[in-house]
Amino acid sequence: MPEPTILVIGLGHLGGVTLELLARQDWVGKIIGSSRDPERGSARCNLARLGAMAQGYPADIEYLALDLRNVDQVADTIQRLDPDLILSTASLQTWWLPELLPRDVASRLSRARFGAWLPIHLTLNMDLMRAVRDCEYVGPVLTAPFPDVVNCILDRLGLAPTCGVGNIDEVVPKVRWLAAEKLQTPASDVDVTLVAHHALQKAVFRPVTDPAPVAVPPFHLRIEHAGRDVTEEIGGAGLLLEPSALPGGPAWGFLTAGSTVRLVGAFLSKNESPLHAPAPGGLPGGYPVFVGNARVRPRPLDDLSPGEAIQINERSHPFDGIHAIEDDGTTVFEPVTVHVLREELGYDCTHLLPQEAAERAGELIDRFREYARKAGVDLEPTH
Ligand SMILES: NC(=O)c1ccc[n+]([C@@H]2O[C@H](COP(=O)([O-])OP(=O)(O)OC[C@H]3O[C@@H](n4cnc5c(N)ncnc54)[C@H](OP(=O)(O)O)[C@@H]3O)[C@@H](O)[C@H]2O)c1
Repeated sequence: MPEPTILVIGLGHLGGVTLELLARQDWVGKIIGSSRDPERGSARCNLARLGAMAQGYPADIEYLALDLRNVDQVADTIQRLDPDLILSTASLQTWWLPELLPRDVASRLSRARFGAWLPIHLTLNMDLMRAVRDCEYVGPVLTAPFPDVVNCILDRLGLAPTCGVGNIDEVVPKVRWLAAEKLQTPASDVDVTLVAHHALQKAVFRPVTDPAPVAVPPFHLRIEHAGRDVTEEIGGAGLLLEPSALPGGPAWGFLTAGSTVRLVGAFLSKNESPLHAPAPGGLPGGYPVFVGNARVRPRPLDDLSPGEAIQINERSHPFDGIHAIEDDGTTVFEPVTVHVLREELGYDCTHLLPQEAAERAGELIDRFREYARKAGVDLEPTH
């Protein structure tokens, strides 16, 4: 196959770093970077081009202004470009803004759980997938915004992206690293198999500075050393949940981008690779997967049936504030999520209908910014 063309939509904190890393891969042909704001987006693409060239890569990068809210324009553009893969990191607001609030305020608001921000992450993915459905593009679409839940909702609407990125695959390296240290062996000798939802991250990445216990959603973990199951022997679950010394906020983009670049490479390869990814084919949560030849499929496991794996992830939704996802894609929130948003932001939403996502996202963003302003934090501009 000739060197592939990748369309990267969203060039913010995650999309920008992912673009930089993709520009330094010798299996990548052309990259089309796109976002809403041409000034900001073309500057980001120019920087990636210069950085890659400085490192010795040819870096064929082009910028294209695209507004995902304009579904017809996006469908026409995808049809014309016909890329080999679409990666979208576009979102109406990034995930770490609440961390900028004063500690006590941030802590009060975080009781709402991550799913509270659902409409912000859902809106543009839904627009993108409508555009994909409206054109003849049949290649893979990978998405970053909260795929463990968003892609599951889109699946109910017949709009599931091919796969999500990040999340479960950010946890796997932590376990491999700590297991390898415990076994005093190179990480390359350790195999980790994990079934887990985005909601597990809160427990997995508890900071060492604040290791207060948090609720732990269900998960399935198997650690193998040289083909032998050592999960119990080395206290695998304890390693998974050990507090970590890691920075907060946008620096995390490198972890997600590292995982994303590997996943993109696997999609564009003829051979199947065993990886981990969230939401393969719109399933809830994250799974061990086989990826190759533009396709993804959950990896069959010896010790867990496909139904049991899905159940683990469905039972994890509430830990992210999601009570249920109904057949028509309506999301019912956990009572605590509704209560905290009502008390803190004056935002009232017990059910999110997909067709109301954009309007609810706009209201949530406005109320959150006003809340931050009252707490003495000005959130403009965000990049
Ligand atoms: N799955 C994971 O592991 C993982 C990890 C990290 C982040 N994320 C998610 O990834 C998403 C992006 O995070 P981020 O930190 O990169 O956010 P960000 O810095 O705010 O970037 C958002 C990007 O989306 C673009 N965008 C906004 N509205 C658009 C529209 N209508 N059409 C086209 N592009 C539009 C923005 O373009 P303009 O600059 O032109 O406005 C910007 O480039 C968030 O949902 C975040 O939660 C997922």
